[in-house]
Amino acid sequence: MKKIAVFASGNGSNAQAIAEHFNQGNDARVIVILSNRKDAFVIQRAADLAIPAIVFNRSEFYDTDNITNYLIDEKIDLVVLAGFLWLLPSSLVKAFPNRIVNIHPALLPKFGGKGMYGHFVHEAVVAAGEAQSGITIHYVNEHYDEGQIIFQVHCNVDHSDTADSLAAKIHELEYAHFPRVIDEVIKTIDPT
Ligand code: GRF
Repeated sequence: MKKIAVFASGNGSNAQAIAEHFNQGNDARVIVILSNRKDAFVIQRAADLAIPAIVFNRSEFYDTDNITNYLIDEKIDLVVLAGFLWLLPSSLVKAFPNRIVNIHPALLPKFGGKGMYGHFVHEAVVAAGEAQSGITIHYVNEHYDEGQIIFQVHCNVDHSDTADSLAAKIHELEYAHFPRVIDEVIKTIDPT
């Protein structure tokens, strides 16, 4: 069985969708959810899903290798960032080459980079008058939103769309595709 670790900073609806997708079968499982916020709703979701949760603070994440070492010790096969807002320390990126994926709620390379997350992305897309937005699933390197793209899918941005209505469309795309794409990626990874 392959082991997945999911990082999330907030609501965690993608983390839940991924856990529910995998934890019915025996090929791969979300064995831990990690967050930088102890009050994030994803921690409640982890409890409801009976998945262990780990919360860390900035100094533990950046000044120690505790989290990287934990993932190595647990023999994690794939790290999934699902609404995780911090840049990964290079020790973590180096320990999991081509084994960290992120989802971005727009069509990279547009509307990516530092500060471009969540609502800010959708507000920028609507303000720019884009005819289309979508999701990008990509490998993670040491820069925000710059790793190799694995998958993109588009949706239309209508004249009546607001950041909220666009966010709802994007979430539907995320739930439909992110678990499925993770499934494809994890099948390419040799077990550790
Ligand atoms: C998602 O739209 C994800 O693409 C973005 O942040 C949002 C997180 O939503 N990076 P949730 O926490 O999974 O509900």
